[in-house]
Amino acid sequence: MSQEIQGRKFIPREDILPFFKPDVGEDEIAAVSDVLRSGWLTFGPKVGEFGAACADYLGVPCALPVASCTAGLFLTLKAMNVGEGDEVILPAMTFIATLTAVIHCGATPILADLDPENLGLDPAAFEKAITPRTKVVIPVHMAGHPCRIEEIVAIAKRHKIKVMEDAAHSFGAAVGGKRIGGFGDATVFSFYATKCITTGDGGLITTSDQAMADQLNLLSFHGMDGNAWQRYGDKGRWYYEVVAIGYKFHLGDPAAAMGMVQLSRADGFMARRAQVARRFNKAFASLPGLILPKEAAWATHAWHLYVLRLDAEVIKDGRDGLIADLGANNIGSSVHFIPLHHHPAFAAEGAAFAGQLPETEKYYDSAVSLPLFPSMSDQDIEDVITVVIQSVKSRII
Ligand SMILES: Cc1ncc(COP(=O)(O)O)c(C=O)c1O
Repeated sequence: MSQEIQGRKFIPREDILPFFKPDVGEDEIAAVSDVLRSGWLTFGPKVGEFGAACADYLGVPCALPVASCTAGLFLTLKAMNVGEGDEVILPAMTFIATLTAVIHCGATPILADLDPENLGLDPAAFEKAITPRTKVVIPVHMAGHPCRIEEIVAIAKRHKIKVMEDAAHSFGAAVGGKRIGGFGDATVFSFYATKCITTGDGGLITTSDQAMADQLNLLSFHGMDGNAWQRYGDKGRWYYEVVAIGYKFHLGDPAAAMGMVQLSRADGFMARRAQVARRFNKAFASLPGLILPKEAAWATHAWHLYVLRLDAEVIKDGRDGLIADLGANNIGSSVHFIPLHHHPAFAAEGAAFAGQLPETEKYYDSAVSLPLFPSMSDQDIEDVITVVIQSVKSRII
């Protein structure tokens, strides 16, 4: 049945087009089944195999699979000895996990503005926020597009600040042909269900620093020293030593087996997402009041998200109107993200940043993420395009 939305007729899809649908097939099911049949359900050989394969794909020497990106961010800050009295600079435009990792370490988060060209941390805003207490900066590669990581690393080096990249959105993204994962002191990826590749829940920490990799390894498994695990020594198989106060943040073999299959499909997933994004960009190019996502000449976009920005001074009701029209046509959408300082749990500390982050606020007021996932059909893509064009055209002021 068609319905009237702001003066235009839409024919809602019969089925719901979700904002994201993971692409998990028979190969993933077979790989996980093999692990389940093997009886080795937790941290085992598949995790090491998956870590090595990821390191190879990303072109980095060390890659440690972990339980989630959230766990990896916290663990990495711990390995960098971040604690009370330290300041950590991060963009206000990120998921809450980037912030909570800092707070759980007892450090003070300092929010900085975004670069409207790529939605990541603005290098100039980062430099302005540096104080003698700054220990780490967390650049976020937002939506799958790299931030200006080389500039950020250069500034950080000058000020002796460590760089931990949040690349939750950017598995496969690159700068100058070099994949994200090897620019900062450490990089953390997410394999959550909606990400570029998935293990259900899961994450990955990469680093080129072997000492940091050893520390991360130790902390991710109760601080148990592998060398002190004298399984075959005098003390017998039961003996181990805990040499650091650690955590239980490792991945398990069933997830790692799924990750191996997803990794083999990563380039295909990315190519299809890029194709969908190009179709959207071409279809929306002549509409007024929109800012379309662009891939910078120096970057390879992983296209985790397709973020459309609507100018509410040109299009009545801006992105809220589009979200309503998409919803009325059974098409999902989302907003990435609510700025960190808007969240009630962080309101007291976040108040200091109110009015200080103009690009973040401007972006937040205008942004909507459209459905983008590899298994979208051509009809799905056309449905999204139709609704966006009709919705925008019907509301031009
Ligand atoms: C920017 C960013 N960082 C971190 C995370 C946390 O990832 P995970 O769910 O793997 O812990 C997310 C998840 O959405 C994210 O978007």
